[in-house]
Amino acid sequence: MKTLILTDNETDIKTAAQLLKQGKLVAIPTETVYGLAADALNGKAVANIFKAKGRPMDNPLIVHISSIDEIQRYGLTEEFPETARKLADAFWPGPLTMIMKKSRVIPPEVSCGLDTVAIRYPASRIAQQIIATAQRPLAAPSANRSGSPSPTSAQHVTDDLDGRIDAVVDGGICDIGLESTVITLAEHPPRLLRPGGITLEQLEAVLGTVTVDRAVLENMDKNSKPASPGMKYKHYSPKADVILLDGTDEQFINYVNQHAGSGTVCLCYNGDEAKLRVPAICLGGRTDYDQQAHNLFSALRRIDTMKHITTVYARCPQTQGIGMAVYNRLIRAAGFEVKQLAQS
Ligand code: TXA
Ligand code: MG
Repeated sequence: MKTLILTDNETDIKTAAQLLKQGKLVAIPTETVYGLAADALNGKAVANIFKAKGRPMDNPLIVHISSIDEIQRYGLTEEFPETARKLADAFWPGPLTMIMKKSRVIPPEVSCGLDTVAIRYPASRIAQQIIATAQRPLAAPSANRSGSPSPTSAQHVTDDLDGRIDAVVDGGICDIGLESTVITLAEHPPRLLRPGGITLEQLEAVLGTVTVDRAVLENMDKNSKPASPGMKYKHYSPKADVILLDGTDEQFINYVNQHAGSGTVCLCYNGDEAKLRVPAICLGGRTDYDQQAHNLFSALRRIDTMKHITTVYARCPQTQGIGMAVYNRLIRAAGFEVKQLAQS
């Protein structure tokens, strides 16, 4: 299959929408990461997403809409709870996915046997135009091959999926760079299943109590069943071993300089690189969590293109604000191990 590269002009948006109406797969930009979209109400089209990505069949998809009314117009959920209305007022359109009781129009390919559906109204103007023009809700996971970091540019999408999908709409580099926050409203109190662009602190400011699913920050044992199936997979992982180092600036620099071999690279903060004796990729300022989030996935992908890299030493992120999302992704890349430098 030849993958068509489209731009965000009006003609190309119409082409993308037309392909989606025909049950085809189109990668689309959003403010978080690129999504691999299909008509959410067409089970066969949705099944092809799993094939193209190599995605496990038990990992449900997010349904994307281009206005809040569409939830009712398409009859996507059984109910729209008060908590959803409050969160929608505060954060939609934006990087927040809400899980609610699903209705019967949601095909089993989307919900993978669960009785809930995840819904997001993205802020990206291009994503909104494509959804509105296609006149259907779009199921879309991140547009990477399963196991790779999520794509934050059209180039990342074609690196993973060229020849496996019908088209990609190039909307430039994604603003946020990490996937949306996922919260379930199908239980009380609501539970954060995946941290992302909307922070725990922001959710608590609107809802009061929000619990944090254990799988967000900890490794779940093999037999447990996480509320968000995606959390159990080893994601976001470059081919080299990632080792998270927790300590002061000085401890980090000393440790790396003492342990670095020829196949070593570092993920660090601005200013560290001058003191390191190994190649370094800066994620951003030490307390600039937005910038760290924005750069993380492209940095992980860049490491995969570097030759003979066996070890990546990375600074352990702080868990405040969007830092929790950066930590959640990096801890998975590192197989849940953090080396405490203070105790070494
Ligand atoms: O920012 C994003 O969320 C991007 C863009 C494209 O919107 N999408 C994305 O999708 O990251 P994906 O499929 O890579 O991640 C969706 C996560 C998975 O961890 C999945 O298990 C979880 O949401 N999820 C989806 N539906 C669910 C449901 N009904 N119950 C629990 N978890 C669900
Ligand atoms: Mg994904």
